[in-house]
Amino acid sequence: MNYGFFDEKNREYVITNPNTPAPWANYLGSPEYGAIISHNAGGYSFVKSGANGRILRYVFNQEDKPGRYIYLRDDETSDYWSASWQPVGKSLETYKSECHHGTAYTNIKADYSGIHSEALYYVPLNKTYEVWRLKVTNTSDRPRNLSVFGYAEFTNENNYENDQVNLQYTLFITRTYFKGNKILQTINENCHKGCNGSNRKERFLGLVGSEVASYNGDKASFLGRYRSYGNPIAVEKGACDNVLNYNSNGCGALQTKITLAPGETKEMAFVLGQYNDEESAAILSSYENLSKVDQELEELKAYWHGKLSNLYVQTPSSEFNNMINTWNAYQCFITFIWSRAASFIYCGLRNGYGYRDTVQDIQGIIHLDPEMAKEKIIFMLSAQVDNGGGLPLVKFDHNAGHEDTPDDPSYAQATGHPAYRADDALWLFPTILKYIGESGDKDFINEVIPYANKDEGTVYDHLKRAINFSMERLGAHHMPAGLHADWNDCLRLGKKGESSFVALQLYYAMSVLRDFASDLNDTDYIAYLDEVQKVLGDTIQENCWEDDRFIRGFKEDGEVIGSKKDPEASMWLNPQSWSVISGLATKEQAEKALESVYRELNTKYGARVMAPSYKDHAFDGALALLFNGSTKENGGIFSQPQGWIILAEALMGHGNRAFEYFMESSPAAQNDNADVRILEPYVHGQFTESVESPFEGRSHVHWLTGTASTVMVGCVEGILGLRPDLDGIKLEPAIPSDWKTFTMDKVFRGKKLHITVNNPSGAEGGYKACYLNGDKLDSNYIFAAALKDENEIILEM
Ligand code: GLC
Repeated sequence: MNYGFFDEKNREYVITNPNTPAPWANYLGSPEYGAIISHNAGGYSFVKSGANGRILRYVFNQEDKPGRYIYLRDDETSDYWSASWQPVGKSLETYKSECHHGTAYTNIKADYSGIHSEALYYVPLNKTYEVWRLKVTNTSDRPRNLSVFGYAEFTNENNYENDQVNLQYTLFITRTYFKGNKILQTINENCHKGCNGSNRKERFLGLVGSEVASYNGDKASFLGRYRSYGNPIAVEKGACDNVLNYNSNGCGALQTKITLAPGETKEMAFVLGQYNDEESAAILSSYENLSKVDQELEELKAYWHGKLSNLYVQTPSSEFNNMINTWNAYQCFITFIWSRAASFIYCGLRNGYGYRDTVQDIQGIIHLDPEMAKEKIIFMLSAQVDNGGGLPLVKFDHNAGHEDTPDDPSYAQATGHPAYRADDALWLFPTILKYIGESGDKDFINEVIPYANKDEGTVYDHLKRAINFSMERLGAHHMPAGLHADWNDCLRLGKKGESSFVALQLYYAMSVLRDFASDLNDTDYIAYLDEVQKVLGDTIQENCWEDDRFIRGFKEDGEVIGSKKDPEASMWLNPQSWSVISGLATKEQAEKALESVYRELNTKYGARVMAPSYKDHAFDGALALLFNGSTKENGGIFSQPQGWIILAEALMGHGNRAFEYFMESSPAAQNDNADVRILEPYVHGQFTESVESPFEGRSHVHWLTGTASTVMVGCVEGILGLRPDLDGIKLEPAIPSDWKTFTMDKVFRGKKLHITVNNPSGAEGGYKACYLNGDKLDSNYIFAAALKDENEIILEM
C-alpha cells in the first residue's frame, strides 16, 4: 500500500493519506534555527542545538506530538478540525489531506466541510525564525464565519531534558505576556546579566494578517482539564480565556476570527522564534505585506533547486530519477549540514561531528556543490591530530590548533570518546580525491591547514600523516589495528586486533595518495608508497582471503573473525565490497567475493551487514550481540554498506546486480510497500530489519545517516559511471541491461555536459565509443581541458 507519490517536476513528495505508518518528516531551516516537521505538523524547533536550544516541545517515544498546530472552527456549527489531519483527526471519509514535503518547506492542504486550507511551513533562507502561512478558502456556497487558532508549545527551558523532567525547577522560571499581536514568553526573566549560568531568554508566537481575538499563554488553560491536543477546550468553546502562565507550563495560542464569502480566500501568518519584544515586533511588522511569504518561498526553492540541478538524470527508472535528482540528493545536504543533530530519533545530545560520519557525508554533495564541500573538508582536516588520526568527535565549537586529543583524559571526559578509532582519517582520501576531481582545484593539495592540537601542514602533509597513523599502529599480521573500533562501532577488535576493512581502506588510501604524489613529482614518497602498499597487499592476500571471501579481521589473540568455518558471523559484507573498491581483489577474487555476498547476505531488502547474526558464539568485543538478531550491526541490513556493494558491483561492470541492490534497498522502490518499510519512502534510514525479525523489511532511524552519501556515490560513480579525477572525467556506466538509453545533465567545473548514453545491444557495462561535441575520442575519458562551455557527449555502450 502507498500513502503518497513523488511529484518529480516540483521536487515534492505528496502524502495523500495522512494515516501513515510513522510520522513522515521534513527538515526546515538549518541547525542555526532548525525545525523538524511531520506531515501532520508534529515536530519541534531549536536554536543552534536540538538538545540545548530547544524552543518547542516534542516528546520522543510517543505518537507524533505536539507540533505546530493550526485549528479551524466553524463558529456557526461549533464543529472544529485542524489544518493538518492531526491532532483533531477527523474521519478520513470527510476530511481530505495532502501534505507536500518540498525542499526546506512543507505545505499541508486540507479540505473539510466546504473549507480549503493550506498551511505552509518554512524557515526563510538565512533567518532564525519560522513562518506558518495559512490560506483559507471558502469552497461552499454560503458565507462562513470561522475561527483560526495557532498553537505552539514552548519548552520551559532550552535544555530539552530539563524541560521534560526538572519540574521542581523549570515550572517556575517562565511566564508569558500578551502583546497585541503576539504571545511573548520569558525564561529566567530576572537574569538579565546571567545568574549562575542562566540567562534571560525570550520566545514569541505572533500573528500577522488578521486581528487577535483571544489568547492563551498557559497550556492547561488552552487544552483544558484531562483533554489533549485533539480537543482543546479553547477551540471547543470558540475562544481562549486570555490566561497567561506563571509557574505552570506555557504556550503560545492565538485566536483570530474571519468571515469568508463563497469563493473568498484570506491569508495570515503565524511567526515563531527566540527573540525579544522589540526584535519580534520588527520581524512581525516585516510580514505586514504577506506577499513576502511567496517571495521567500521562491527564494528557498531557487536556492535548493539550484544546487540540485547540477546533476539531472533521466533514466528509465523513476525510482532512480527521483532519488538521484531530488530526494537522495536533498538528504545528502541535510546530513552534510545537520550531521546527526536532530530528528525524531536523534534528540541532539551529541555535541559535535563524528569524524568518519562527517567526512563521509561530504562525499554525498561534492558532485553538486564542491565549494560547499571544500569548507567542510578544511574544517575536518583541522580536526586531524598531529599524529594523523582523526578526533573521534569534533566539537561544534572546535578550536583548531588548541584541542585536546584522545591522548588526554580531558578529551574523553568532554566527549565520551576514550580512544582513537582505526578508520577516521582514512575517509579523507576518497573525499579529497572526489573534491579535487570534481572541482579541478589541484592547488588544494598545497593548502596549509592547522592540526587539531598543534602544528599545521599542507593537505598533502595531512594525508601523509594519516597513512603514518595507520602504519604506526599495525598488529601481528602487519595490518592496521582495530583500535577502539573501525567503521563498525560494534566491533572492538582491540589495540592489537586487526581489521581487514581498515587494511583495505589503507590500501586504497595509498593508491589515492600515490596519484597526488606523482602530480607533485614526489619520487621518494612514491617509492615509499609502492613498497608499503606491496607489503600491505601481500599480507591482506595471505591472511584475509579464504576461498570465496575476505575475513573480517583478527582478535588480539589471533583468532579469525569472519571465517567461513565460524558458526555465526561467517560472512561479512564490507570486506567484500571494499576488496573491489580498494582495487586489491583480483578479478577472480572479486567475482567470487561478490557472488558470496549475493548468495549468503542478500535478501529482498538488501544485503545484510553480516550473517548469521550473533547469538551464542560472539566474542567479547562483538557488541552487536546487544541487539536482537537481524537488527543493526547484528545481521541487520545496515543501509550504508548498500552504497558500497552497489559501487563494487558497478566497478566490476555488473550493472544488473548493482541496480538490483539499488532497487532492493531504495526508499522510492518501497513506495507501495510502506506498511512494511514504515519509514518515509523518500529518505534512507540507518538499517532495515532482516530475515530473523518478525518485521522483516522495517526500516529505522530516518534522515540522518551516512547511507545518504554512500548510496549517492554508489549511484553516481557506480551506476551512472561519472568518475572525475585529477585531469578530467571518465564515463563508465554500469546499468541494467534493459536501459536502452538515458541522459545526464551535469555541471562539471563550471561547464555544462549533456550526456546521452545509448545501449542498443543491452549491455550492462563497458563502452564501444565516446563522442565529445561530434568528435570521436580514443577512450571514455574526457579531459577537462577539451571541454567547451556547453558540451554534447555521446557514449555508446
Ligand atoms: C552508525 C554510526 C557510524 C557507524 C555505523 C556502523 O551509523 O553513526 O559512525 O560507522 O553506525 O557502526
